[in-house]
Amino acid sequence: MTGPRLSRRSALGLLGAAGAAGAVGAAGGFAAGHAQDEAPSASDLVVPFHGAHQAGITTAVQQHLYFATFDMTSTATREDLESLLADWTDAAARMTRGQEVSPEGAVGGGPYKPPEDTGEALGLQANALTITFGFGPTLFARKRFGIADRRPAELVELPSFAFDLLEDRFSGGDLCIQACANDPQVAVHAIRNLSRIAFGRAQVRWTQLGYGRTSTTSKAQSTPRNLFGFKDGTANIFSNDDRDLATWVWSDGADQPWMEGGTFLVARKIQMLIESWDRVRLEEQEAIVGRDKGEGAPLSGGTEFTEPDFSVFSTKAAGPAIPMDSHVRLAHPENNGGARLLRRGYNYVEGNNDLGQLNAGLFFLAFGRSPQQFIDIQRSLAGDALNEYIRHIGSAIFAIPRGVRPGESIGAGLFA
Ligand code: HEM
Repeated sequence: MTGPRLSRRSALGLLGAAGAAGAVGAAGGFAAGHAQDEAPSASDLVVPFHGAHQAGITTAVQQHLYFATFDMTSTATREDLESLLADWTDAAARMTRGQEVSPEGAVGGGPYKPPEDTGEALGLQANALTITFGFGPTLFARKRFGIADRRPAELVELPSFAFDLLEDRFSGGDLCIQACANDPQVAVHAIRNLSRIAFGRAQVRWTQLGYGRTSTTSKAQSTPRNLFGFKDGTANIFSNDDRDLATWVWSDGADQPWMEGGTFLVARKIQMLIESWDRVRLEEQEAIVGRDKGEGAPLSGGTEFTEPDFSVFSTKAAGPAIPMDSHVRLAHPENNGGARLLRRGYNYVEGNNDLGQLNAGLFFLAFGRSPQQFIDIQRSLAGDALNEYIRHIGSAIFAIPRGVRPGESIGAGLFA
């Protein structure tokens, strides 16, 4: 990108020239000097867009999410797909730096045409915005794009699982974009402007707003809580777990060279039956999860980060301290051939139903080098006591290509 590097704030003229230069400099310096895994907090935090892997995976989890899936239009050509990915790449690189979507932006294009940038993020900074792109199985199935032989063998629709109640309106998609930021308006602005750019080539299929991260990818961050009130993300893969990242997250590209350094994303919209859960005794809630509610420690003893010991017997429960049907026991690597996932989900609340109950849940997002990791864990969770209180209502899978090098577009290699 060679255009002028005006921050949104300087474009608005809120700062004097010296102040604007200082603000951009501070953001740039911060980005250069800080690794992705450090807790983002300052509004001027810039997470580098370019790199070996896409940002938004090991990046310390931001507070807000706007996730969108797209379908290519029925008349879109291979050239349309290539140009869309190129345009999205340029726009994403700019917005993650805290810039407007194009040099012309919201007010620089003159009074006689619609502004190129929608403007609602003017005055806001980068807020650790990350934009992560993915390709769904259906993208490769469309003959006119000529990329059928570039589909990773494992990029196929997920099998159905026990208790699935999936709805089309929350499932599938040719493409996905995950926008995460510490300011919700920054995330929404990113998806809104990328959707606009797609006009005529791809259209939005479904979207999901999320708030209050339900996981952490950095020990520098505290463990957040999900809507059942339990700490979530304690046993996650962290950004400094190089061995686990190599084993369980990053693809080696053996199947498709363009995937080297990429990964797979499974998205599941999981409704949580909040009112039923809230009537469950504390002791039973803890038995269902397998951890205590206050500290997040495993019921076998210790503190939050103590490894669960599944052999510990509880005389009170007259059985294993961590019950056989508890979530943590069934999801744990010990029960799944060692398989792990990098979880990066968000809470959602979408009003109430006719009975006044919350439409709320967990938008579960998990990255893994093979979709089989999710499949194995989800199959094992068929016996999960938590199933009485949750419903999987949406599902999608995407191949997440490696990071973008300067001068390249996302998915480089797909068309080579
Ligand atoms: C609404 C649904 C869910 C809720 C409320 C939930 C909640 C939790 C909680 C409280 C923990 C313990 C803290 C932690 O280590 O993060 C946990 C752990 C875990 N969950 Fe879930 N979870 C849900 C769905 C899922 C799904 C769909 C999967 C994958 C198929 C999954 C996989 C895991 C894994 C791998 C762990 C770590 C287990 C370990 O190594 O100890 N969870 N979850």
